[in-house]
Amino acid sequence: MQKFMIAGSSRLKGTIRASGSKNATLPVLAASILNAGKSVIREVPRLVDVLVMNDLLVHLGAKVNFDRDIIEVDSSNIQPVEISEDLMRRMRASNLVLGSLLGRFGYVKIAYPGGCQIGSRPMNLHLKGLQLLGATIQEKSGYIIAEANRLTGAEIHLDLPSVGATENLMMAAVLADGVTIIRNVAKEPELVNLQNYLNSIGGHVRGAGTDTIKIEGVRPEELRPAEHTIIPDRIEVGTYMVAAAITGGDVTIVNVIPEHLDPLLAKLREAGVNVTVGNGYVRVLGNGRVKAVDIKTMPYPGFPTDMQPQMMALLSLAEGTSVITETIFENRFKHVGELRRMGADIKVEGRTAIVKGVDRLSGACVEASDLRAGASLILAALSAEGGSVLENVQHIDRGYDRSETKYNALGGRIIRVQS
Ligand code: EPZ
Repeated sequence: MQKFMIAGSSRLKGTIRASGSKNATLPVLAASILNAGKSVIREVPRLVDVLVMNDLLVHLGAKVNFDRDIIEVDSSNIQPVEISEDLMRRMRASNLVLGSLLGRFGYVKIAYPGGCQIGSRPMNLHLKGLQLLGATIQEKSGYIIAEANRLTGAEIHLDLPSVGATENLMMAAVLADGVTIIRNVAKEPELVNLQNYLNSIGGHVRGAGTDTIKIEGVRPEELRPAEHTIIPDRIEVGTYMVAAAITGGDVTIVNVIPEHLDPLLAKLREAGVNVTVGNGYVRVLGNGRVKAVDIKTMPYPGFPTDMQPQMMALLSLAEGTSVITETIFENRFKHVGELRRMGADIKVEGRTAIVKGVDRLSGACVEASDLRAGASLILAALSAEGGSVLENVQHIDRGYDRSETKYNALGGRIIRVQS
C-alpha cells in the first residue's frame, strides 16, 4: 500500500495539461472488440483502470501495446472466453465489454462486477436493454451469461440515463440486424466520444449528447481499423480547478474543452471563484473565502457526481452553510468522516450533507475510500494548517494520471511513500 505525505498551506500556481478522460477511454477500449482489427487510440491517460482494461482485452486474446499516451489494440484474435470474478472484481467498468462481446460473438460470460464503495451499482438496465435486442440472459452463481444468434435492432427506453447502460447498448447495437433507438440516454461528453469512435470503425451511430441515440446495424465485414483521440478528462480538470480555488492559487489548465465544464464553471462562479475560459484552457484565481452554495448532483449537463466530493472539500471552508444532495449514488459520502477529522463541520442526513463552513482545516491522518473521495482529501490537505497523511492512494492512481507530479509542478508538496 502507498500513502501521500501532504504539506499544508499550499498556494498552487502555474500551468498543467489535462490528460485524456478515464471515462472516455474505458468504453472505447471495450468497443475496440467490435472491429476485429487494429485501433490506434491517442491521448490515453496512464491510469490503473486503463491497465486493468488492457489486461481484460489481453485475457480475451487481443494484442495491446501501451506506449506513452498511445494504445494500439489488435482485436482480430479475441474470443468470448469467460471473464472470471478476479478480473471483473478489479474494476466495475469491466462490465463495458458486455455489449461488444455479445454484438460480435453472440455470447458472453462475465462475473458480476459487484458494487463498490459508492453504491450497489446494479446492471438491470444493461440487461433489460440487451434482452430487447434479442439476447437471452441467465444470471447464476454470480455470473451473467448473455446469448443471441444475431442481435436485432429495437426501441429501448432507459428508466434512467445510465452512462454504462447507454454505452453497452450502443456497442451491442452496432452489429445488430436493423435500427436501434435508445431513449432517455446519458448525455455525458464521454458518450459523444464513444459515438465518434464507433463511427470511425464503420458504425452508424447518431444522437449522442442528446436524449435519443439511433444506431443502424452493420455487418462485421463493414467494420475497419481506426485511429481515435480521447477527449480531455473534465473531472480531472475540475479537480485541479477546485485545487486552485481551495488553496487561493492561480492555476491554468490547458488541453481543455471548456463547454464540458459548464455545470462546474457555473457553481464555482456562484461561489465567487474567479474563472477565466479561453480557447482550450481555463484559468482559476482563488480570491479569498468562497461563498456557500447548494449543489444537487444530476446526470449531465447537471452538476457531475464525480465532482461532489471535491466541491465538498472546498465548501467546508466557505462563508456560510451549503447543502449538497447526491442523487446519483446511494453511498457517496465516505469522504465526510475524513473531512470531519480535519475539522470540517458536516452533517449527513440520507443523501444530503449540510456543510457549515469553518475558517481553517487542520492536517490529519486520513484515508481514501474511493477515487473521488481520495481526490477531495488531497484538496483539503493542500489547504489545511499542518501536514496530512493520506492512506490508500491506490484509489487515486485509478483515475488521476501522475497526480502528485502535477500537484508538485504547481507548488504542492506531496511525497509518495510505501505504507
Ligand atoms: C459512470 O459509471 C462513471 N464511470 C462514473 O464515474 C460516474 O460517476 C457515473 O457514470 C455517473 O456519471 C465510468 O464511466 C467508467 P451509471 P456508471 O450507470 O456507468 C444506477 C468515477 O469516479 N444504475 O450512470 O456505472 C446506478 O446504481 C466513476 O470516475 C441502475 O440502477 O454509472 C447509479 O445509481 C464513479 N441500473 C446510477 O444509475 C443500471 O443498470 C448512475 O449509474 C445501471 C445504473
